[in-house]
This record gives sequence, C-alpha cells and structure tokens, in this order.
Amino acid sequence: MIAQDTVQQILETAKIEDVVGDYVNLKRRGVNMIGLCPFHNEKTPSFTVSPTKNIFKCFGCGKGGNPVQFLMEHENCSFPEALRTLAAKYGIKIEEKELTPEERKKQQHKDSLYIVNEYAQKFYANQLFNTPLGKSIGRGYFKERGYNDAIIEKFGLGYAPEGKDAFTQTAVQKGYSIELLRSLGLTTKYDSDFFRGRVMFTIHNLSGKPIAFAGRILQKNVKAPKYINSPETEIYVKNKVLYGAYFAKQAIRKQDECILVEGYTDVISLHQAGLENVVASSGTSLTVGQIQLIKRYTPNIKILYDGDPAGIKAALRGLDLVLEQDMNVRVVLLPEGEDPDSQVKKLGSTAFEEYITEHAQDFILFKTNLLIEEAANDPIKKAGLVKDIVASIAKVPDPIKRAFYVKECANLMDLEESILISEANRVVAGNVKRANIKRNRPQERPASPLRPETGEAAPTTSPSKPQKKQNSTGDEFQEKDIIRIIITAGDVVFDEEEDISVAEYVLSNIEDVLDNFDNALYQEVAKEAFQRLVNKQRLDLNYFLMHDNPKIKQLALNVTTSPYDYSPGWDKKEIYLRSQKMPELNFTDDSVQSLMRFKYRKLIRMCEDNQKRLKEIKDPDEMMTLLQVQQQLIDMRNTLAAEFKTVVIK
Ligand code: GTP
Ligand code: MN
Repeated sequence: MIAQDTVQQILETAKIEDVVGDYVNLKRRGVNMIGLCPFHNEKTPSFTVSPTKNIFKCFGCGKGGNPVQFLMEHENCSFPEALRTLAAKYGIKIEEKELTPEERKKQQHKDSLYIVNEYAQKFYANQLFNTPLGKSIGRGYFKERGYNDAIIEKFGLGYAPEGKDAFTQTAVQKGYSIELLRSLGLTTKYDSDFFRGRVMFTIHNLSGKPIAFAGRILQKNVKAPKYINSPETEIYVKNKVLYGAYFAKQAIRKQDECILVEGYTDVISLHQAGLENVVASSGTSLTVGQIQLIKRYTPNIKILYDGDPAGIKAALRGLDLVLEQDMNVRVVLLPEGEDPDSQVKKLGSTAFEEYITEHAQDFILFKTNLLIEEAANDPIKKAGLVKDIVASIAKVPDPIKRAFYVKECANLMDLEESILISEANRVVAGNVKRANIKRNRPQERPASPLRPETGEAAPTTSPSKPQKKQNSTGDEFQEKDIIRIIITAGDVVFDEEEDISVAEYVLSNIEDVLDNFDNALYQEVAKEAFQRLVNKQRLDLNYFLMHDNPKIKQLALNVTTSPYDYSPGWDKKEIYLRSQKMPELNFTDDSVQSLMRFKYRKLIRMCEDNQKRLKEIKDPDEMMTLLQVQQQLIDMRNTLAAEFKTVVIK
C-alpha cells in the first residue's frame, strides 16, 4: 500500500493542466483552460480545467475532479494505479506503507489467488501447445473453430488434460498450496482436478489478471454440461464480470458503443475478425453490476441475439434493467440458427458489420413489434401488451426519450397517443412515489434529489405535493456558503500567529449550532469536518473530492466549480464582490463574512424558536430560564450584527 504521505505529496504535486494536457488539447480562456471533453462527444468545448483550483470539470456531461480522478476516469484504472502513474510522471518516489497484519493477510491472500490462477493458466496453455493430446484434441478444436495462435495466446486459452489429478499433482509439486487450489475451485475437495478433458477459457478482470476459468466439453451428445465454471471467490464476483472486458475496454470507449454477445467463443471470433468492442454475459441474463461496468465506457449498447425463439425471449429478459440505467439499447437478431460466431465466419468481418448496423433495432420498438405479432387479433393479449410496453417506457429516465417512445409505440400499436401518455404518466408517478417513500425513511426531512449541476436540492418531481419554496424560510443558502468554505479552503491558514486553519476557525465558531442545519447534507459535511479536526485528520479539497459518499463528492465538485468564474479578465477588474468572485484569493474575509451571515441566521432562528416555546410554557421557573436564554441570544445577535457591519464596511 502507498503511504499516506506519498499520496499527499502526489496530490499536491500533480498539476491538472499537465495531466489533462497529456490527453486533451487545451486552450487558455481567462484564468481557465478549455478543450473538447474526452468523456463525451462534443463539437464545442465545455470541458474546463482550472489550474488555480487544480480540478477539471465538464459542463456538458458533469464529470469532474482532481488529477488523480481524471486519470482514473480516463484510463479506467484504480486509485493506486493512478497514483503510481502520477508518481512516475513527476519523479516522486513511492513510500510503501506498512500494512496492518489483517490488511497484509487479506492482500497476500488475494495476491496468492492471482498467482495460483496465473500458474493454472500457464499450465493449461502449456498442455495445449506442448503435449500430444493437448495439441491434437485441444488445439485441434480451436483450429477447427478458426482461431489463430495469436488470438489463442491473447485470450489465454488452454487445455485441461483428462487424467484424474494431473494438474493438482503438478501444482502441489511446484509448491502451490492445496488450500488455495481448492478455494479457487481448481481442485475438488477429493483432491482431483475440477477441469478435466476440456478446452479452457481464462476469465480476466479489468486489469487483465486471471480471476476464473471456464471449461468447454469436447465430446458431443454427452450428459455433462457443455461449460463448467470456477466458483465465486474473493477475486471473482460473477455478476460484476463481463467476459472480454479487459480486451474490449479501449475499443468500446473509442467507438462509443459496446456489443454484447452471449458466449466466450462469440467474443473471441469477433475479436479475431477485428471487432474488438465486444463482451459476453456468459450465458446468464445481464445484471445491474455488468451494465454499470459497460456504462463506465459508453451509454450505447448493442445486443446480438441468436435468431431462435429462445434467443428472442432472452432478448426481452433483463432489458428493462438496462433502460433504468439510462442506456441506449439496440437489439440485433441474427438469422435463425446462427450465433455471432457462426455469422461472422459466414459473412466475413465487413459484411458482418454491415449486417449488424442494418439490422439494429431500438429495443422498445423491437419489443413492441414482437409483442404485436404475438397478440395479433387477440384483444385480451393486446391489453396486456399495452401494460407491458408502458412499463418499459416508464423505466426510461429521460422525459424527452419517453415522449418519443410514447409516440412511436402508439403508432405501432395503432392506439391514440393520449391513451399511452396517461398510462405512462400513471406508472412514472407510481415509480417516483415509491422512490420517495424509500428515500424519506432514514431521515426526518425529505431529502430531495440533487440537481447535478448546482448540488442544490431539486424540487421533487411528485406533482401532488405543494412545493416548499427554495430558501424562503430556511438557512440553506448560508449553510452552503459555510460548507463551500470548509471544502474549498479548509486547510488554508486563517491566522498565522495563532496557527489556525480556516476550517478550525469556522467550525469552532459554529460548534454550538452543528445540530441546527436545515440541509441534512450540509450538516453531515460540517459534522464530519468537525470530527476530523478533533481527530487531527487531514481536511482539504482533495479529501472531499474523493469522498466515499457520492453526494458529498458531487457537492465538493459543485462548490469548487461555478460557471461564474468563467468571465475572462475578472482579475483585471478593480471591483468585485469580496465573497463571490475568486474567493480563493480572499479566504480570510470570505470565511469571516460567511460565518457571520451563517451565525446571524442561526441566532435569529434560535430567538424565534425560543420565543415560541416561551408562549407555550406555563411553569414560572422554566419561563425564567427561557427568558434568560432569550436575553443572551439577543445580546449575541446584536454583538454579531455590530461586528458584521464593521467587517462589511472595512
Ligand atoms: P457452439 O455454438 O455449439 O459451438 O458452442 P459454444 O461453445 O459457442 O457455446 P454456446 O453457443 O452453446 O453457448 C453460449 C454461451 O452460453 C457459452 O459461452 C456459455 O457462456 C453459456 N453456456 C452454454 N452452455 C452452458 C452450460 O452448460 N453451462 C454454463 N454454465 N454455461 C453455458
Ligand atoms: Mn456458440
């Protein structure tokens, strides 16, 4: 593990304009730099880099973060991988942190699982290339399928010999522990080989490490299953893995489309034919985890199905799930009896690509057409069909797309558009309500979904509830300002002589009102920041930008980037509002003012609350206490107001 000090050093050294500049052509625009966003397609640049804040942000697609996050996103690599890349770029020597005994044990266990799998993969490959049976049976089989040696090696294909325990014996002799072999499922509990007499497919993770195997039977017409797979382990979580993803990820991003097929052999054949943006779900129906994996690279997915009835049924299964993830789904049906593997061999790669381009149909329209055929002349079925289609349409999060589908499907089904619209609205409203009920449960106040751009609470979409006006009574505006300062300048020196930071100054001043926030998210940030100060933990922008809670991460990004500081030449202008334009150059004033506004609001609130309670109370003793409190609050408020004036005028 990389030591925390090194991590800090890397975070502090890496310059966003250097790191992004390696991939994106940036042009200076005022204090910022702009370019074409590498994460989505655009013709006019909305991708902004701020050297002063050391972050990037795309105002088109919303992605943003620090240099490490840029690399992670762009290279699809892990946090440590990104750190290592940056360390190499800036010549920073990496200090490895001593792991705790538990951490070390866990890491060592994982590492050894990879090492054993690597050994197994080499063993099976060696069998395939260098043993008589492997060559004749295994390699013969792959040759028959048309695989060349390069592709066999690239995908780590192999052959598992027939014998009872040829693999296990050899592995143990070489010093690999029988427990590890067992926990990977390579060896059975009776110490025999799990994979026997099968051709082997290696399953890789996104970094290309072997995490599991699949073995295909060679004989026809036997009872044994055609494929058997490694069991789930710490390194192989089936519903998060797509076969071929490691070899396909670059191509998927480049072509902004992922082709999804069913089997291992389909992936390999298409890859060999030059179509590299292909992955397989390996026989199972798609999971949310798998869809999210694709979504990291592209929102466009094209699913290739065998043209047999089972293939068509499979096409419908699980696809609403993809719609919910806001992916654009297209479906290609292959001619009956063909799978992608056989079809690409039959047509050759150019004609195959033409075929799938020509035959790709939008999923919802495809489903509608299919169900219409099924329901032909059957009014009862037709009523069910409307429900079914509407359920799919309602899953589409984008209202514009939804409207398009309503129109198209109404056309196809020969229905009045209005019938479909009202039906779809009913379902959408139901979905929203369910989501709100779920969301409200853990908290008292209704947490509204965040608006991606501003990080401010968005009005809920439920049409039935009257909406609370933004900031009419609450203090969210002042709270946000406080949070902005803590996030963006928490670690800046506030007072050199007293050696306190901005966060220390602000938080120690609002310690007494930490429970009185109107906005639950801002409160969470303030409380956590306070706790971190107490624990003497690091508190800076990068900490919030890489926060585990995605809402806080988004908030951090939003408060650091505001479209305001676009205007070129702001710094040449003499006048600017002290706490608004470029507050990063004016931390002290900025924090004092925001803090005062915040405290002032809170004090007014407390006065009001106290007043209310005074009216309700009958007990004379209690009333006395409350009156004293009231006097104190008013004093504090007045002092603050006086101080506030002097600072503002200063
Ligand atoms: P052919 O098309 O007959 O040459 O065989 P194939 O090796 O291409 O496999 P097939 O097209 O029949 O199956 C496609 C995918 O379904 C495979 O890649 C597997 O992921 C999955 N699959 C097929 N049969 C089995 C099985 O018996 N068990 C499991 N777990 N998966 C299977
Ligand atoms: Mn097949």
